[in-house]
Amino acid sequence: MQPAGHTEASGHTPTGSYHESGTLEAWNERYATRGMVWGTDPNRFLAEYATGLTPRRILDLGCGQGRNAVWLATRGHRVTGIDLSPVAIEQACRLAADHAVEVIFEVADVVGGWTPPQGAFDLVVLSYLQLPPHDRRVAHAKATNAVAPGGTVWLIAHHSDNIADGVGGPQFPEVLFDEQALATDFGDLEILKNEKVFRDVEGEDGLVRAAHDILLVAAKPSKPDG
Ligand SMILES: C[S@@+](CC[C@H](N)C(=O)[O-])C[C@H]1O[C@@H](n2cnc3c(N)ncnc32)[C@H](O)[C@@H]1O
Repeated sequence: MQPAGHTEASGHTPTGSYHESGTLEAWNERYATRGMVWGTDPNRFLAEYATGLTPRRILDLGCGQGRNAVWLATRGHRVTGIDLSPVAIEQACRLAADHAVEVIFEVADVVGGWTPPQGAFDLVVLSYLQLPPHDRRVAHAKATNAVAPGGTVWLIAHHSDNIADGVGGPQFPEVLFDEQALATDFGDLEILKNEKVFRDVEGEDGLVRAAHDILLVAAKPSKPDG
């Protein structure tokens, strides 16, 4: 257990099976009944990374209710957010309107037929897009493809160790991952950071514990001159 400090709502810890909790219906239901599930503030590691970045074209894959996309837009970035859930996208649009920023939000399945325009983004953000191995590899390949030469993929997720040692997040090992999986998925990029990070989370019992996350920063090499 960690001392109370910078805490974050634990959101909802899905139970049952991933097969049940990862469906479009389950996401819609969660968003329709639980308010702003992860709050309206950006993920703390993203805020740390992106504060001070000059304006750029950003793609947020699995953007949920838009907390990260909207925050990035308030910092002057041109942001596109994609999510499977129309309920989440509607809420994200409202959040953008509340902050008087424009974000392109689109309902799409990152694993299915939707493919981002190649090399069109300076930064691709993935924040807790927890998918089983095949789907994860597809989504990560699309992220790699979407980033422009010289651009960056930034990813935060629940670490595989989180079930045993951490708190919150999905309790299905198949949707959690570790440094080795990310090193393989993003093997075409230059990996600048691929490590475990910790986040204080206040549980439903009011106690604060450390969630175990994985943070990746990976850059696509710039095109060689000439
Ligand atoms: C844990 S939430 C994270 C939301 C947001 N990135 C955040 O950090 O607040 C994961 C999101 O991924 C979305 N998602 C799951 N599978 C997806 C898919 N195949 N294509 C697009 N979005 C997907 C869900 O609808 C959900 O909004």
